[in-house]
Amino acid sequence: MEPRIPERFRERYLPVVDDPDAFLACLGELTPKSFRVNTLKSSVAEVQARFAGYGIGIRQTGWCPEAFVSDVPELGGTLEHFLGSIYLQELASMLPPVLVRKELETARLVLDACAAPGSKTTQMAAIMRNKGMIVANDIDYSRIRALKFNMEKTGTINTIITNQNLLHFPAQLQFDAVLLDAPCSGEGTIRKTDSVLQEWSERVIEGHSHRQKQLIVKAFDLLAPGGVMVYSTCTLAPEENEGVVDTLLRERKDARLENVSVPGFRLSPAIMEWDGAQFSEEVSKVARVWPHHNNTDGFFLAMVRK
Ligand SMILES: C[S@@+](CC[C@H](N)C(=O)[O-])C[C@H]1O[C@@H](n2cnc3c(N)ncnc32)[C@H](O)[C@@H]1O
Repeated sequence: MEPRIPERFRERYLPVVDDPDAFLACLGELTPKSFRVNTLKSSVAEVQARFAGYGIGIRQTGWCPEAFVSDVPELGGTLEHFLGSIYLQELASMLPPVLVRKELETARLVLDACAAPGSKTTQMAAIMRNKGMIVANDIDYSRIRALKFNMEKTGTINTIITNQNLLHFPAQLQFDAVLLDAPCSGEGTIRKTDSVLQEWSERVIEGHSHRQKQLIVKAFDLLAPGGVMVYSTCTLAPEENEGVVDTLLRERKDARLENVSVPGFRLSPAIMEWDGAQFSEEVSKVARVWPHHNNTDGFFLAMVRK
């Protein structure tokens, strides 16, 4: 069933989405249950064998060997979840670390700028095989508790936690890789939670956009020359996505975008013009995830090189 979608939401997105009917229909369905194998604790083959033993059907995605979907909703009750061998995570939310997998495998110092509750911190630690070091930062102490819990459960030991406003982070630090998984209006998660639509307004979007523009410039300044940054959100709003990346390109002349590509996962082009503003040509290298293309949440990804 289609959720009760505000008229203004329809006016904004139906003209720019490829298949409005499929998009609306998808918003009315729950996202499939998904998880990734935590390779700090178990191999993919081990988890596949154990789930086959339980008779729980799981399907490996074609774009990330550790990522699986399952038709069985009770994954949270399995021993593997209890022990931290699997981590329940929405598929689109796994994309940012996958995008920079190669860089993470050799990175020495990584900043997860807005890290709690740690889905991507723990995913990056697994890719790094607990080598190097991650600084996992978040402004919100109550969410830090969840981050700490998830680190302990997954066996993440290459990570230290900081509880800072990113905007006040010490400027002399320089990271090989930065993930800025920004606080956002969460439009891409409508399939999971009604509350997003209840609180939805263009004023909320504007507020996030203003904060994200400050955060992306600060996060870029913490990147070492040659380093790579991923900017991601779980929202559809161009003001929080292409518009934020466009601001970075105007404010930092040493920022270059790289093409976003995840073989096997369907990504869509940027929105290059919004509300009368035309974004820089370079912005065409970012990628959008529309929920109905891969049966996931909506998402946005940009990859920036210094
Ligand atoms: C989208 S959530 C991060 C989700 C996380 N990356 C994960 O995958 O589990 C955004 C986070 O940004 C944090 N945040 C918001 N403003 C911040 C700031 N100025 N500095 C640091 N963290 C901030 C919020 O507390 C929230 O936990």
